[in-house]
Parts: sequence; structure tokens; C-alpha cells
Amino acid sequence: MCGIFAVSGTQRNAGERVLEGLKKLEYRGYDSWGIAVRIENNTVNTIKKVGKISTSTEIFPEGTESLGHSRWATHGKVTQENAHPHRSGKVTLVHNGIFENYTDFITPEIQKNLLSETDTEVIALLIDTFLKKGELPEEAVRKSAQKMKGRFAILVMIDDIPGIFAARRGSPLILGRTETETFIASDIPAFLSETRIVNYLDDGEMVYVKGNTLQFSKISTGESLIKRDIEVPWKMEESEKGKFAHFMIKEIFDQKSSIASAINHSDEDIQKAVKILQSTNGSYFLACGTANKVCSAAEYFFANQAGRKINVVPSSEMPNFEKFIHQKTALVAVSQSGETADVLEILERGKAKGARIIAITNVESSSIARIADVHLPLRAGPEKAVASTKAATAQMALLYLLATADAGKITEGRQTLLALAANVNDLLNPRYEEKVQIIAEKIVKAPNLFIIGRNALYPMALESAIKIMEVSYVHAQGFAAGEMKHGPIALIEEGSPCLVLGGDEETLMNAMELKSRGARIIGVSPKRSEIFDEWLKVPEANGIQSIATIIPVQILAYKLAVLKGLDPDMPRNLAKSVTVK
Ligand code: AGP
Repeated sequence: MCGIFAVSGTQRNAGERVLEGLKKLEYRGYDSWGIAVRIENNTVNTIKKVGKISTSTEIFPEGTESLGHSRWATHGKVTQENAHPHRSGKVTLVHNGIFENYTDFITPEIQKNLLSETDTEVIALLIDTFLKKGELPEEAVRKSAQKMKGRFAILVMIDDIPGIFAARRGSPLILGRTETETFIASDIPAFLSETRIVNYLDDGEMVYVKGNTLQFSKISTGESLIKRDIEVPWKMEESEKGKFAHFMIKEIFDQKSSIASAINHSDEDIQKAVKILQSTNGSYFLACGTANKVCSAAEYFFANQAGRKINVVPSSEMPNFEKFIHQKTALVAVSQSGETADVLEILERGKAKGARIIAITNVESSSIARIADVHLPLRAGPEKAVASTKAATAQMALLYLLATADAGKITEGRQTLLALAANVNDLLNPRYEEKVQIIAEKIVKAPNLFIIGRNALYPMALESAIKIMEVSYVHAQGFAAGEMKHGPIALIEEGSPCLVLGGDEETLMNAMELKSRGARIIGVSPKRSEIFDEWLKVPEANGIQSIATIIPVQILAYKLAVLKGLDPDMPRNLAKSVTVK
């Protein structure tokens, strides 16, 4: 949540470069934005705007250092005053996270002088207060960070002191380096066009950056740290839209290859994770949103393939069950971003109790990946649209592989998945997209959309509803196919669109019950049925029909959004990675 980015270097257009970098992080938050540039006389010039940064062509004053922020509002409304950077005295600062105890530092006198409603302005104030007390700049930042409760990443510029200070706890910060300069960002795509050489700032660490000179230290003690340069495998093209109109449809089409990439792990690596499942007494699969629905599909994979009962709980609800986590518990975290706060917090507390952690994330440098005993990267390539598409199917593929490995059938598992990957490759073509478009045009005006599915297609019905609601703002609800007649069927009227996932006999019977009450049935299944008013054919995929079936629904959600003139990549009120609880 919120993208932050800074550059300290030699080129005089630092402001424009931060603008371009922030545009690549806009998926993290797009309520407002702001950029500060250090100018000739070592003071700082700041521009702040409400709205999306992607449309900006702002010109900035010359300067070799700049920092900026693209905001997803937590404290305070979406206004120019609340946009970052915030300033107090000589301090200019951007912040991603929440300063939980910020009110402890606001006296009535201070309150009168605050210019915004944000917790961030209080961090700037705190640092400036330490400076006024005579602390050296680095110590002023360190002591302020020590006082802050909650998760945060901050970037700080101080008038008259060249360089940028950065500190983090919980929220991500990654440094990219060239021979002459350094970039500091919440996520790698911000500087991928400049360098693939990175340093990771770990939890509880800070850094002082000036050009390409870096001084790392611990926030708690000030102890100096040495970091290793790492080359990331990401390619620039992967984080660009290319010929596609939006990231969402590009990422849907990336599924031509991402399912196969996700399972491109050695048997040994998969077995390391399986060993944890098999040597513990029970497991909790932790995830939020789409990733949680993926885990619910995995509940069927493990039950059917390995005869294993896994526990799937939305991470935000997990505190109710934390008492059951102990040394012999396996925690399996599934997260595209690897930064989701609700997941990370349970993992941190679980780790302290001695639980074993398996992480499945798409961002190898993420906090969730780094806390795990075993990390299995998804390798789906950067996912920038807010809606999770290729990450979701990659997660399902990898979880299915784990379930088959757990059952001692990894080779068969791989074969099944590779066959599906080939079929998905054939399925994703402009003609298929056109078919989905025609259906989208027929239902775009409907106020409600119902989705039913049975077995692992039940969680896919729930996931379909998330996908459709979040990008097209059409009210959609998913149900277990057999559950409609226990209440929700009362909502069915003449013409109510119902997506029926799957074509097994029982699901078709349930579809017939809906059709008899006037529903318009859109079947998503390998075989046509006379019950279907419309039909989206999907490949037959025994045991993993869930993966094949969600893909047309992703396209449908995208088409509905575009038909309504919405931006599917940046739906209202949402952000790509949710680093607040
Ligand atoms: C997906 O379309 C959603 N935008 C959202 O539910 C997402 O899956 C959820 O926030 C979890 O994110 P993560 O995978 O990065 O942890």
C-alpha cells in the first residue's frame, strides 16, 4: 500500500526520474501523489497533487536527489494537504505504513500547527525535534524510528544535508544501484529500467544513501551492516504492458506460460515443503482475498490427492485460532505480493512459537518469503493489475503439485499440470476473448450476477465474485452449487445472469433449478449442455478444473470493466499490496 521511491545520483533530472519510477508503482496506491526535489541551495521543492500520477507530465526544478510517494489513504482524506511528502522544519518525508502511536507525540500546541491529518507529518516533526535538540541527522532518523510502533518504510531528506535516509520495519524497501547512483523503492519495477543490481533492506534496518555510497545500520543499536549486491532475474518487458491495453488482460494472457513456470521447481525443493507438512501435526493455510480462495481450492487438492485435511482460514480471522499454533504446526502462507499485513503478522507470531513456515509468493524478496523456512517462488513475473490473475492460477498449480507430492505422485501431478498449461496456451487467443466479449455485452447492465460451483469449483465461484466485483463494480456473489436452494434462489428473477462453473450432473441439476426460475445460464465447462444459454468452453482438466475454469471468468471481469469505461488495473478504493491490517 502506497508506493515510495527516491533517487540520489548525478543526473540533474531527479524529479522527472522519480515521477517515472512512481508511475511504475502506481498499482500500490493511486489516491494522490507528491514529489520533492533537493534544489541548488540544498533546500527542498515539493509538488503534491490529488489523483493518479500516471497522467502527470509535471516539470520539476533541477536537482540530483528526489523522493516521492503515490498514496493509498489510511489517515486522513484524499486531499492535497494529506498527500506526501510531508514536511516539518528541515525535514521532508514520505511514508508507507502506519505510525500506530503517532497521537502520543501530539500535544495541543503541536496539534494547532499540523498542516495535515496524517500520521506521517508527525514522523517529520519527530525527526525535526531531534535535529533541533542537536542530534546528528542519522541519529535523529534512528531515534524517531525507534519510537515508532507499527509497520513502516520511510524516506527522508533534510535541508542542508545531502543524501537520503531510509528506514523500514514491516513495509518493503529495496535499493537498486548503478556505478553512480542509488534508487530506493517499495518495489523493484520502479527502477528495473535502470538496474537489476539490488540490496535488500531488512526489517529493523536503515540506510544513508548519497550517490552510490551506502551506509547500512540497525535501527535498534546503530551497528553498521554490510550488504551483498544481488542481481534480480526480472526482465524489463515483464513489467510493461506491451501491446495490451491494460496490465490485467496482459497478465491474463501471461497464463500461456506462467502455469508451467510456477511448477518449474526441482522435486527436491518441493519435497522440502512436503517434509514440513508431513512432520508436523496440522497445518494452517494463511492468505487473503483471492489467495485465500486459492487455498480453499487447495483444500480439495490435498483431500483428494493426499487424504490430508488442511485448515484454511482468511488471515484476518486467524487470531481466533492462533491458540492452536505450536511447534508442531505448519503455516503455509500464500501471497502474490508477500507483504500482506494480515498474513505476515500471524507468521511472525507463529514463528515465535516455533511453527514451521512454508511461503508461496511471487516476490522473492518479500517479507513473507524472507520469514519462511521454505520458500517456493511462483515465478509468474510481475503482477501489476490490482486483480490477481496469473498469480492465482500459478498458486493453484504449485499447491496442486505439493498435494500430489504429498501423496507420492509428483510425476503424475507434473504431467497433469503441464497438459493443462499447454491447453491454456491454446485457449488464450483473440477469438476466445471475442466470445467472452459477446457474453459481457449481454450481461453488462445486470445489477447482480450469481456464480455457482461444486467441489474445488465452489471456491472458484467465490473467487469469480471477487474478480467481477473488484474491477467491474457489478454486484456478484458465489455459492456452493447445492446451496442456492437453501435461500439465495429467492433472488433469481427473469433474466438474472448465473455463471455455472462445471458441467457435472449435480451442478447441471442445480443450474436447471435456477433456469426454471428465469435465470440466464452461462456455462463454463468442458462440455456444452442444453441448459446453457451461453457457453464458454474450457479444457478438460481432471483434478484441476478449477485452474482452467477461472481463466474465462477473469476475462469476463476484465471485459465488463472495460465496457463500463472503468480502469481495470486500478479499481477504486483498492491497492495491489495490502500492507495495513
Ligand atoms: C485479488 O484480485 C485481490 N485484489 C486481493 O484479494 C488479493 O488477492 C489480496 O489482497 C491478497 O494479496 P496477496 O496475494 O498479495 O497477499
